[in-house]
Amino acid sequence: MKQLIAPSLLAADFMNLQRDVEMINQSEADWLHLDIMDGVFVPNISFGFPILKGLKKICRKPMDVHLMIVEPHKFIREVAETGAYLMNVHYEACTHLHRTIAGIHEAGMKAGVTLNPHSPVSLLEDIVQDVEVVMLMSVNPGYGGQKFIEHTVEKTRQLREMIDRKGLNTLIEIDGGVNFETGKRLLDAGADVLVAGSFVFSAADPASVIKELKALK
Ligand code: DX5
Ligand code: ZN
Repeated sequence: MKQLIAPSLLAADFMNLQRDVEMINQSEADWLHLDIMDGVFVPNISFGFPILKGLKKICRKPMDVHLMIVEPHKFIREVAETGAYLMNVHYEACTHLHRTIAGIHEAGMKAGVTLNPHSPVSLLEDIVQDVEVVMLMSVNPGYGGQKFIEHTVEKTRQLREMIDRKGLNTLIEIDGGVNFETGKRLLDAGADVLVAGSFVFSAADPASVIKELKALK
């Protein structure tokens, strides 16, 4: 399967969101990655449901909503109402992850579980079969533009091995510090979806960076 590219809106120009979403719409991007932060689970606050609802009207790519919040199960309905395709919740934020995943599916969305850099892939052994996506954080969540954590490449290999061993088709998504160099190595290690924020939006021609990420493998 050709890799999927999910530009992260966190690095867009918030005073020109419509322009930047139009660029994504017309690009080869597969999903639009949306980072929701609460200042509790992560030490930063980004944007919330009013923005997602506005995006619903103009975004023509499937929305990949990454919830960096405590108790994400409380917001399943709100996320579904924004028309999200995928709801990504953190393993570390869910006491009853299996129930949360069932709720996401009942609300009509694909479910993703996300691991922080310190959480081992082995934690997924009894839940990977229930999600469409596993997302590995390759930076500590909360900010765009951080340095890629090298160990993520090894974790990607371990996760690829787990998914293949179980005969699943769960997608492996990687979030943080993705550029052409780290992206290529992640794809070689078995990643399926690359999130890229600052690397895309700091470029003079973001659409061409998306196109090149799409052609990396
Ligand atoms: C970080 C977010 C990422 C962020 C990635 O907490 O989850 O999605 O936008 O940004 P870059 O690609 O700049 O590392
Ligand atoms: Zn993210």
